[in-house]
Amino acid sequence: METYLNAAAEIAREAGALLAQLFDHPHEISYKRPSDLVTEADRRSEALIVDRLRSHFPKHAIVGEEGGGQQTGSDYCWYVDPLDGTTNFAHGFPVFSVSLGLVYRDEIIAGVVYDPVREELFTAERGAGAYLNSKRIRVSKVGSLSESLLATGFPPSADNNNLNMQLFSSLTRLSHGIRRAGSAALDLCSVASGRLEGFWELKLNPWDKAAGSLVVTEAGGRVSDLAGGPLKLLGDEILSSNSLVHDEMCRVFAEMARARARG
Ligand code: IPD
Ligand code: CA
Ligand code: CA
Repeated sequence: METYLNAAAEIAREAGALLAQLFDHPHEISYKRPSDLVTEADRRSEALIVDRLRSHFPKHAIVGEEGGGQQTGSDYCWYVDPLDGTTNFAHGFPVFSVSLGLVYRDEIIAGVVYDPVREELFTAERGAGAYLNSKRIRVSKVGSLSESLLATGFPPSADNNNLNMQLFSSLTRLSHGIRRAGSAALDLCSVASGRLEGFWELKLNPWDKAAGSLVVTEAGGRVSDLAGGPLKLLGDEILSSNSLVHDEMCRVFAEMARARARG
């Protein structure tokens, strides 16, 4: 298992260094859909990661956001976000990361998220704790929503944004505030390292959440769907927290669902 984590850490650092180098140059932006940006950096980072993963683990499957992966029928599958925070990157806003999560059958067993701007490497392997630059990290001990700092994000397409705007508004009133920094993988790692008490998002892909959600649980936190049920990696939503404010957050989501159903 350590081989997986060491290889992933080395690859994430190499891809992060490439992103840091490209960040200082003008970016050619293209659009997958309106507001859904992609840059040369996304593609080059993914090409590098896929190349390195293939040479370390030729039999493993790889699912990369930009489509550069490989299907092998293996029980091992890497979920790769080569640049999490593309919109930030394209605008020169220095918050972005590389995220590599390894799933064995249905279980996330290793995860690495690298922030090349702060040179922060978050790592976790199942059952062995979570680390930031090799130092053990743990979630915060804050026990109430009213004393919590939270984060969320919005997908590039407008699906669910209306509901999340309402959640943003009510949770802003119930907490110390909500951040929307623009890299879901880093938001999850901020929960894991105690910088935030909770993070939720309504529409995320598996490459956004695979690595970061293991970092959260290995740091003593909890990840689930918005109702508190088991996280579905291939599903849309995620709620992560220090575990102490989890049920309170679930109650806010449930109340919002009831209010919307009443019209
Ligand atoms: C996005 C970021 C953002 C989140 C979006 C994601 P990308 O990923 O993680 O924080 O709010 O839902 O799509 O497109 O920059 O890889
Ligand atoms: Ca992403
Ligand atoms: Ca991405």
